[in-house]
Amino acid sequence: MLNLQCASSQRWLDQVDQYLEEILIDHAHCEHKAAATAMSLLGSYIENRPLCEAMTEIIQEELEHFYMVRDLLERRSIGFRLQPPGDYGRQLHKLIRPNDPDRAVDRLLIAGLIEARSCERFKRLSEHVTDPELAEFYASLFESEARHHSTYVRLAKEFAPPATVHARLNELSAGEAMIIQRGCPLPRMHS
Ligand SMILES: [Fe+2]
Ligand SMILES: [Fe+2]
Repeated sequence: MLNLQCASSQRWLDQVDQYLEEILIDHAHCEHKAAATAMSLLGSYIENRPLCEAMTEIIQEELEHFYMVRDLLERRSIGFRLQPPGDYGRQLHKLIRPNDPDRAVDRLLIAGLIEARSCERFKRLSEHVTDPELAEFYASLFESEARHHSTYVRLAKEFAPPATVHARLNELSAGEAMIIQRGCPLPRMHS
């Protein structure tokens, strides 16, 4: 369903155990970035009505998630702050082809793969942590991020035939698997 080619490793769960606070702060940044990505796609393809409508919904939902994580941080007296980003997003963006319509397909599929990985990690996190509030919170986010993944894959088909989109999704998800398996020493939601 999520089109991912590998599961998150024990290496990441070890980072969760050691640096949970930093990962929770990064999660708030991820939700903001998810809203910003949807806004950027809306601006780039503003003539496409189905895309604009879907992006509007995603922007609203991601901003809601942003404040849900901010509330969670506040309940735990964790100060929200800027953090140097990990390099997952940067590495993925290097896979985007330069010219439309290929560029549109890649931007949408990469956004979809980031949603899929978030989804997979939220599930791992909800099963891994012993804290019931965190377990419930991460389990509750699974459904909306899975839906965002499907929305992005569906929208890519506005720019290329379905078979072309699925073949490209397969290539990009192989790239995503390599990037996530390589990991990042900074503890992040996608490290
Ligand atoms: Fe979200
Ligand atoms: Fe999302």
